[in-house]
Amino acid sequence: AASKPWGGVFQEGTDQRVERFSESVSYDRRLYAHDIRGSIAHAEMLAAVGVLTDDEMNQIIAGLTAIGWEIQAGRFEFSQTLEDVHMNIERALTDRIGDVGRKLHTGRSRNDQVSTDFRLWVRDAIDELSGLLRGLQRAFVGRADADAGVILPGYTHLQRAQPVLATHYWLAYAEKLERDRQRLADCRRRVNLLPLGTAALAGTTIPIDRQMVAAKLGFDGLVANSLDSSSDRDFAIEFVSCLAQIAVHLSGWAEEWILWATTEFNFIKLPQAFCTGSSIMPQKINPDVLELTRGKSARVIGALQSLLVLTKGLPLAYNRDLQEDKERVFDATDTVRACLELAAPLVTGAELKRDAIAARLDHGYLDATTLMEHLIHRGVPQRTAHGLIGRLVGVAMEQGVRLADLPVEAFRDAHPDLDESVYQVLGVENAIRAFRSEGSTHPDQVAQQVALWRARLSND
Ligand code: ARG
Repeated sequence: AASKPWGGVFQEGTDQRVERFSESVSYDRRLYAHDIRGSIAHAEMLAAVGVLTDDEMNQIIAGLTAIGWEIQAGRFEFSQTLEDVHMNIERALTDRIGDVGRKLHTGRSRNDQVSTDFRLWVRDAIDELSGLLRGLQRAFVGRADADAGVILPGYTHLQRAQPVLATHYWLAYAEKLERDRQRLADCRRRVNLLPLGTAALAGTTIPIDRQMVAAKLGFDGLVANSLDSSSDRDFAIEFVSCLAQIAVHLSGWAEEWILWATTEFNFIKLPQAFCTGSSIMPQKINPDVLELTRGKSARVIGALQSLLVLTKGLPLAYNRDLQEDKERVFDATDTVRACLELAAPLVTGAELKRDAIAARLDHGYLDATTLMEHLIHRGVPQRTAHGLIGRLVGVAMEQGVRLADLPVEAFRDAHPDLDESVYQVLGVENAIRAFRSEGSTHPDQVAQQVALWRARLSND
């Protein structure tokens, strides 16, 4: 019983099966650097308010620093009996510097310590992922020159709809990823508040200075209510919900490119270094990285679900259930990081099959809506124009020709205001240039957006 930090009241040692069941050190050791950083700030504050002498503080800092190096070098032996990374480090400190180490935990509890370490960890993860999102945006925007002028069919319901510039596709993903970055940045504001000093659940009688600790650790402020802080994991849930949205964005993109890489679409050639083959079918070049990117989104969505279910029935304040949060957050972070790391080079390395795409752009009446709007410009009500052009498309379909192949009489018959000018908006090239609205796929609009994106990306 004496080997536990809480040994005093216990007359029996912990059952070994309970130790195995309740340990978290096998995974929360990932928090070691943040734990040490938090403890050093705590010790400095304790000295500043006179709870520790400067000499005691210095011994603690030296001890913790040495332990950090040991862990980093892989020379530290974690003990399951000591449950988690926090008690492992504290025990190692006491083993190293003696009784002075026993003063470190003054005015804090593992509850606020865990939450502090975890917030520091999540904050680092946010900054890292934010950078990786930028990298993927760079990859998409970076295709603009190589794919300049390439027109792709745009789809709704996965049916050919209207023509769009390839670059318009790339910028669509850059925009989605930008909102993902903004969500992370917003989440960071709530993550970056210091729990330390809220102690177990009610605060402490020790005259601590939380503001000082917050400043030392780069927090923007304090968590205000100790009960709230002790029970709160919504910072982690919010973070993982950001991750789930990123994973879902990547999954949709992966799905699209998997389709594009099929013989049926034949739009894109994926870099072979990002594909794998078949052990039986010699011809196969499979888009496994994209498939796994799509598949791994399930883990991230699952992590979000787990965290929500984990916390939905918890009364105030701390409950041990909360220990189950870390693996979910670590796994969701690792998964999204891995997907982002591969997505960027994949985007850069893929090649559009310009000829195959161009050869089939005449299919699907991608210019029908442009023709309808051409008629609207001549004063015909939209509903009427829609019906008239619909019938024309029907005629062309029956004959198996493009709208541009119909003779001018066919257009005149459809509506007296239609004349040779229709040929100026028919065909995907013309249709693309006919767009006007802001945010449309007109080449000038897209060029403007590319310029904005380049400026944005070069600013950080
Ligand atoms: N190992 C636990 C965790 O990481 C710490 C538990 C702290 N609090 C407690 N009252 N047992 O979450």
